[in-house]
Amino acid sequence: MPDSYALFGYPVYHSWSPFIHGLFARQTGQDMVYRLHEAPPDQFRHDLLEFFFEQGGSGANITLPHKRAAADLVNELTPRAQRADAVNTVLRRDGELIGDNTDGVGLVADLTQNLRLRLTSPRILMLGAGGAARGAIGPLLELRPSTLVIANRTARRAIELAEEFSSLGEVSGAAFDGVEPLEPFDLIINATSASLKGEVPPIHSRAVDRATTCYDMAYGIGETPFTQWARDRGVTRVAQGWGMLVEQAAEAFFVWRGVRPQTRPVLEALHARAMYLATTANTRS
Ligand code: ATR
Repeated sequence: MPDSYALFGYPVYHSWSPFIHGLFARQTGQDMVYRLHEAPPDQFRHDLLEFFFEQGGSGANITLPHKRAAADLVNELTPRAQRADAVNTVLRRDGELIGDNTDGVGLVADLTQNLRLRLTSPRILMLGAGGAARGAIGPLLELRPSTLVIANRTARRAIELAEEFSSLGEVSGAAFDGVEPLEPFDLIINATSASLKGEVPPIHSRAVDRATTCYDMAYGIGETPFTQWARDRGVTRVAQGWGMLVEQAAEAFFVWRGVRPQTRPVLEALHARAMYLATTANTRS
């Protein structure tokens, strides 16, 4: 019997994770299956996870909207899940459910390995102060930025988030219109959900120049509103969250299986598959 893994979320059927983990398993010769479990918020409880593991489950991923709830459902958190206050990966050790978070390291792996950013004391602007931003702050501070500014529509959330992480590095919080930089940032990361509504956070024009790297954690076919905003300003190093998606999965795979898969061929296959589906969808419409 292959080892069994699952993704819990709501909705979840659009997920690329079975495709990604299927390719990782084939590449590394691991005998495993990866299934999707749609769990509405009122049904996502400790006993649901317990039941999955009692039925022989070997590991689980958690996605929206359950990442934060999962942190309260597991018995123990890894330090990085504790800092993120969110769980996207669960394993069972000695009968206990352990919650981990691989999102932040996935982002940093994409920035430094796939996009090959060489950032010395970078100036980083993080847009958003929700769950996606929170998970990335700890790993980004490990890059030792000279400044990390969290800007958010609701300033209070950005300021509180910055205060929580202030012992780990140079981090501050502000409203969008409170960011009036004297020089452009090296890296701007969009962790708001504005792209999903076709919007771009109001960013000061001095925050960006052609040398800035602009990264949208959202991903899709074609440009997101934020990546289009960046290109309109002459930025050439622009990326969406596809690489983060694959890298967080690779880290989860490593946590579960002790084997680190190669991500580049999987990222290429994912792009090809997504493009193919978009083309056929367009042909049909
Ligand atoms: P997630 O877990 O995806 O981060 P979240 O915790 O609901 O989701 O956070 C969404 C983030 O996107 C927040 O920072 C939110 O700003 P507020 O804290 O002010 O709500 C931000 N956001 C959502 N829609 C936005 C928009 N249209 N423009 C700018 N920021 C937006």
